[in-house]
Amino acid sequence: MKLYIIKIACVSLSTMDWGMQNRLAKIIHPEDGRCLMLAVDHGYFLGPTERLEVPRRAINPLLPYADSLMLTRGILRTSVDPKCDVPMVLRVSGATSIIGEDLSKETITTSIEEAIRLNASCLALSIFVGSKYEHQTLANLAKLVDEGEKYGIPVLAVTAVGKEMARDARYLRLACRVAAELGAHVVKTYYCDNFEQVVEGCPVPLIIAGGKKLPELEALKLAHDAITHGAAGVDMGRNIWQSDWPVAMIKSVQAIVHKNADAEEAYGLFLEEKESDKSSQKERHKVVRTTVNQSMPFD
Ligand code: 5RP
Repeated sequence: MKLYIIKIACVSLSTMDWGMQNRLAKIIHPEDGRCLMLAVDHGYFLGPTERLEVPRRAINPLLPYADSLMLTRGILRTSVDPKCDVPMVLRVSGATSIIGEDLSKETITTSIEEAIRLNASCLALSIFVGSKYEHQTLANLAKLVDEGEKYGIPVLAVTAVGKEMARDARYLRLACRVAAELGAHVVKTYYCDNFEQVVEGCPVPLIIAGGKKLPELEALKLAHDAITHGAAGVDMGRNIWQSDWPVAMIKSVQAIVHKNADAEEAYGLFLEEKESDKSSQKERHKVVRTTVNQSMPFD
């Protein structure tokens, strides 16, 4: 399965310009065809999500272990040291909020010139297949791919699932294939039963979202199942920084993604690492909680 994924990555890389290949290689490591992206973009429609209230505090201890960081320009500018050498996956879609009319009504929020200025290694945008604003979000993707191709910047399409949609292989393979057909270079989706069918129908690398916070062992099983069924990696957020031991958690996810650890081995590592995880969220987040443990509409 691993060889299969590397092959996919190589075939698509060989037809790309140098800049596109170079940026994509920063996101999906060519040595193993795998990727550990840390998602911290939740505030773009959720506001100050629990344990991401002060982004810098959540991001800093995790940066050394992330292959890349997914975030908006606002959080990049305010909360990440520009001397940091972690590649940035810039979310460039949004302009909706959790209390607004319809989350699927997204537009492109950041220009390609701005993305270049911010030295983005990849652009991320959500598509809402089957929703009221399906056409608008798919047209956004097609336009973004055109712009990305012009400047050699790959595009990550995020298949966001509306509340009313079943998050099963039948739906996800449709959404992922549509994203790839429109030119996405990487697609982010959800793990589901028969995930290999989603992988088979999508000719570009697939990475999975972590979803709502789970007990650590379950989250590690999810990551491992996704990898063994053909995902190139994870774009995980809450299951890392909402853990009481986020550094231990990201190191354990890293062991699955890049060191072929199984879920039990990774959990063993988590138990060892949590003893020395000085970033313990309980200690660092001594703010009075004003937020609830939000569930994303896509969970
Ligand atoms: C939402 C996103 C988020 O970055 C992503 O889904 C969050 O990751 P997680 O589910 O692991 O917290 O792209 O559209």
